[in-house]
Amino acid sequence: MEKIEIPAGSKAQIYEALVPQIKSLTEGESDLYANLANIAAVLKEAFGFLWVGFYLVKPDNSQYGKSLVLGPFQGPVACTRIAFGTGVCGTAWNQAKCLVVPDVDQFPGHIACSSLSRSEIVVPVINDNDGVVSAVLDVDSKKLDTFDSVDEKYLTKIVSFL
Ligand code: SME
Repeated sequence: MEKIEIPAGSKAQIYEALVPQIKSLTEGESDLYANLANIAAVLKEAFGFLWVGFYLVKPDNSQYGKSLVLGPFQGPVACTRIAFGTGVCGTAWNQAKCLVVPDVDQFPGHIACSSLSRSEIVVPVINDNDGVVSAVLDVDSKKLDTFDSVDEKYLTKIVSFL
């Protein structure tokens, strides 16, 4: 597949069209980074979000022994490492659940990689077998209150293809 078809319509209608296309984009490819890169590209192209990308859980020298390290993304230059339990990404990792933040200024410890980011959603990538978080999908918007349960539903579906 070379081109993604993005219909006009509601957010849910756009996601409905994207989900099978992302499924077919990723299912024939076993390389994780290739799939993360294409998912970030599709979401950026379809919705024009400020920043779409992945942080991967990787070993480090911290007390926890692991941190989130920047992976494939689309958008402005971003922080490279995020500690367990810090910022929105580190909290979603810690809690192993999706976090929707309508106003980043109201989120204690929010890490401002870009001063343009006003709201965000972070969806953990959770291993089916052991429930361990291996990465997070972080999507940032220039506008307040961009994300809701529709984004949570479809982005959770999309990361389940990984
Ligand atoms: N806002 C994130 C940091 C990552 S960047 O925005 C790309 C956070 O607080 O986890």
